[in-house]
Formats: sequence, C-alpha cells, structure tokens
Amino acid sequence: MSFFRWIFKRNRNKVEIDEGKLPDHIAIIMDGNGRWAKRRGLPRNVGHREGANALRRVVLSCNEIGIKYLTVYAFSTENWKRPKSEVDALMNLLIEFLKSADRELAGKNVRICVIGDVEGLPLNIQKEIQRVTKSTSRNTGLNFNIALNYGSRAEMLYAVKAVADEVKKGKMKIDEISEQVISERLYTREIPDPDLIIRTSGEQRISNFLLWQIAYAEFWFTDVLWPDFNGDILLEAVKQYQNRNRRFGGI
Ligand code: IPE
Ligand code: IPE
Ligand code: MG
Repeated sequence: MSFFRWIFKRNRNKVEIDEGKLPDHIAIIMDGNGRWAKRRGLPRNVGHREGANALRRVVLSCNEIGIKYLTVYAFSTENWKRPKSEVDALMNLLIEFLKSADRELAGKNVRICVIGDVEGLPLNIQKEIQRVTKSTSRNTGLNFNIALNYGSRAEMLYAVKAVADEVKKGKMKIDEISEQVISERLYTREIPDPDLIIRTSGEQRISNFLLWQIAYAEFWFTDVLWPDFNGDILLEAVKQYQNRNRRFGGI
C-alpha cells in the first residue's frame, strides 16, 4: 500500500530529481526510534519496531530509484551499553527482519550484506546472516548493507593489525602500505565510499560510523525521527545532494 503511494508521490516530484546524477552509495544513521516512542508515551521497543518498518520502506525506495548501494547503521559496538532488555528486543527485531527479508524482497533483486563484527553477535543471528547473504548473493540490483555490531575505530584497528601481521610475516613491505591497502582490509572492501550520508533525529554527529569511508561524503541531517522516514524524505535528501558542488579538493 505505502509502496504505491510512494510511486505516486515520486512521479509528482519527478522533475526535481536528476536520474543521471544519483548518488551511487547512500549511508544512513537511523536515529530517533526511542524519542519517537517517548513522544507517544510508548515503550522504546515500539519505536524500534516502527524503525524496522521504516527501513523496509526505504530499501524498496532505494531499489526503485536505482541506488546501487545502501548502507544502514543498525547496531553499533557502543549500543551494547543499553539495558539488556533493549538489546534483546533489538536482536529479536533483527532476527525477524532477516528472516522475512527474502520473502519481502522476493523478485526485487536486492543483495544483502552485513558489515561489522559478526562473530560478536548471538549465534542465531550469525546463522540468519549467513543464510540471507547466501540466498541473495547472486542478485544484481541494490546492494543493501546492514552495519551490525559495527564500529569504525574497531574496523580500522582490525585493518591495522592485519597489515602489521602481513609485514611481520614478510608478505608486505612498509613502503607498500597505501590507502588502498587499508581500504581493502576494511569490512567495506567491496563497497565504494558513500556519496551521501543521512542522519535522522536532529543529531549532527557520526557516532563511529564509516570514519575512513566518508572522507568526501556529503552530509544531510534532518529532524525527522527514523520511524517517520520514507521515500519522499529520501528524495528530498537526494535532491539537495544534487545541488551540492563536490570539489574533492579541486576548484
Ligand atoms: C536508533 O534509535 C536505533 C539504534 C541506535 C539501535 P535510538 O534508539 O538511538 O533512538 P533515540 O536516539 O534514543 O531517540
Ligand atoms: C548511532 O545511534 C547508532 C545507530 C544508529 C545504530 P546512537 O543513538 O547509538 O548514537 P549516539 O549515542 O546518539 O551518538
Ligand atoms: Mg539514538
């Protein structure tokens, strides 16, 4: 239902989006689930449930517009600090999301990947990740990356240790360590750097997300809380992205 409504609105807005100048990679910090619930006098977990629904909508929207890569921040290495009941609820939602993903995305050609410290996640989630990434691995449409138990500093630390190990074993010389060598040892090795990064809920910070990869990304912040996010707001972000002048240090 919401999918068709979205197409209608999109067509109405169509002139404003340059289909030839789409960002290849959009990364989203999905923030504000807790505040969304609080404003309604509901438990935080209801906000997370609605947040998962917003994500379902946005994946379809990105796929429909023709975005090649979408990376969403779903659970950070710091989010373990939350009360156990909230962490458990988030893990349960995650399992539910992954289990229903193939059915909901059937025929949409979406490839699902996970970035982050997967081994630090509960076993049932690891199994579900393996299953869903395998079952979608041949798809050639939207590359949908979910950052789970992800922390950018941990990711870079892991890369540095991997490089140090190769140098120690004589497989690489110090002079051979380049930006590319580092990039190839990050979780995102197969993903181009984000062009556009979106954060919802009014916060204007990165919270340990893709620090290396966003060197030249365009930032777009909105006060909208994540559960209220939809395809129209995504188009608004893309429209503003298209008005930016990316110089990459040049003139
Ligand atoms: C984002 O919403 C979801 C996760 C971090 C898992 P929050 O739970 O951070 O919502 P707020 O920031 O408390 O409103
Ligand atoms: C960032 O949101 C992490 C995710 C969206 C998964 P947080 O709500 O955890 O970030 P802070 O604590 O406000 O920086
Ligand atoms: Mg938050």
